[in-house]
Amino acid sequence: MAILDKHKILETNATLLLVCSFLVVTIGGLVQIAPLFWLENTIEEVEGMRPYTPLEMAGREVYIREGCYVCHSQMIRPMRDEVERYGHYSLAAESMYDHPFQWGSKRTGPDLARVGGRYSDEWHVDHLRNPQSVVPESVMPKYGFLERTMLDGKYIGDIMATNAILGVPYTDEMVEAAQADFMAQADPDSDYDGLMERYGEDINVRNFDGQPGVSEADALIAYLQMLGTLVDFSTFTPDASR
Ligand code: HEC
Repeated sequence: MAILDKHKILETNATLLLVCSFLVVTIGGLVQIAPLFWLENTIEEVEGMRPYTPLEMAGREVYIREGCYVCHSQMIRPMRDEVERYGHYSLAAESMYDHPFQWGSKRTGPDLARVGGRYSDEWHVDHLRNPQSVVPESVMPKYGFLERTMLDGKYIGDIMATNAILGVPYTDEMVEAAQADFMAQADPDSDYDGLMERYGEDINVRNFDGQPGVSEADALIAYLQMLGTLVDFSTFTPDASR
């Protein structure tokens, strides 16, 4: 009875109720937010994640510049229809090196978070050049100019250095070798040992657009072909203890 009486005081006194609600919300808020100041990272680490190679990074720049995110998301939600269509739902760790992230919220076209390896390089060249040639009902614009726009990779070290400031673990060595690694990944006849030493053995080294020189299409296809392929989901088990 006594507690009900006390509660009645609260309920019949608007100012007191306001002050007490404010206190409760403040404490609740602090309990949720304060620990984040002491945690170094809230993203569960996942095996296989690595920063983008210089060529993939250049492709990502093209992707952002051309506004591909206006029609494509890169975020598979943990719902059955999405997982059945696109594959394992996206993990936070998979976009931990993305500045800015490309999750997107608009899907005029399909989600691209796991498009890597789904199509051949030739398919991508045809599709970028003229989407309707491979998907007749497509409303995607043509990007044929990308394969005619050559890149020398000079600026890519600067972009990587900027990403390093934002916390991407690029070393000075990676930044210094950026241009050489950029050229090497698009040329299977080159010496790409250094590239693999720095980024791992599973890097795709190919002439992505099938034409001489390194074009924006080479970079973009290198980027598309690695999307969603870094984490091996046949062995991945979520760690709920964190
Ligand atoms: C105006 C909207 C629009 C824009 C902008 C756009 N796309 Fe698309 N995209 C689509 C649509 C619609 C489809 C589905 C039909 C098709 O495959 O062409 C698609 C399909 C794709 C696919 C095949 C995906 C799959 O799983 O089948 C890829 C890859 C792709 N787009 C890449 C890109 C890239 C890279 C860019 C930027 C250079 C881009 N798109 C810009 C609308 C767009």
